[in-house]
Amino acid sequence: NSEELKLLKDHIESFPDFPSPGILFRDIFSVFRNQSASQALHSLLKSYALSLKGQIDVVFAIESRGFLFGPYIGQVLGIPFVPIRKKGKLPGVVERLEYGLEYGTDCIEVQEDGGKVGQKALIVDDLIATGGSLTASCQLLKTLGVEVVECFVIMELADLNGRQKVPSKVVSLLQF
Ligand code: PRP
Ligand code: HPA
Repeated sequence: NSEELKLLKDHIESFPDFPSPGILFRDIFSVFRNQSASQALHSLLKSYALSLKGQIDVVFAIESRGFLFGPYIGQVLGIPFVPIRKKGKLPGVVERLEYGLEYGTDCIEVQEDGGKVGQKALIVDDLIATGGSLTASCQLLKTLGVEVVECFVIMELADLNGRQKVPSKVVSLLQF
């Protein structure tokens, strides 16, 4: 497990000044270029998912990189996966949340039949930075009446303390 974590961390490429000056961008996609790092990630995801067996009814993930992991975790647990997407991408009846950013606003949506009142939910993403995306997702899922018992990310930018903002437990595989 600690060997798998090391292998995974060693294969996450970092790009200085992307997408803007001063940002050190951690690229999850670089993991999938390497067979053993990919296998390590899937093994870690499987162990994590199995540790939740019986505690979760539905897995949500955040567009777009959360979609790389949410369906797999749902499959390991034998429960549904449901996407949270940017405005205007999802068909059918949706719940919508508009939330404030440093400059302007953003808007996310989920299909209203994606979760039932009282169900226990996990939210998955590749990374937590400021925690804005996970916080907004928790708020959005409240409108469905589901209970977010945990949020899971592969990478946590620990200096930004995003987990403090999120109104639910946050679990990360790697900290930077
Ligand atoms: C990135 C990342 C997380 C979010 C983390 O997604 O994949 O979803 O930002 O930042 P936060 O904790 O400050 O909210 P991005 O908005 O770049 O969308 P994308 O995955 O569709 O490229
Ligand atoms: N990597 C990927 N997504 C991000 C990052 C990062 O370093 N920071 C904010 N969103």
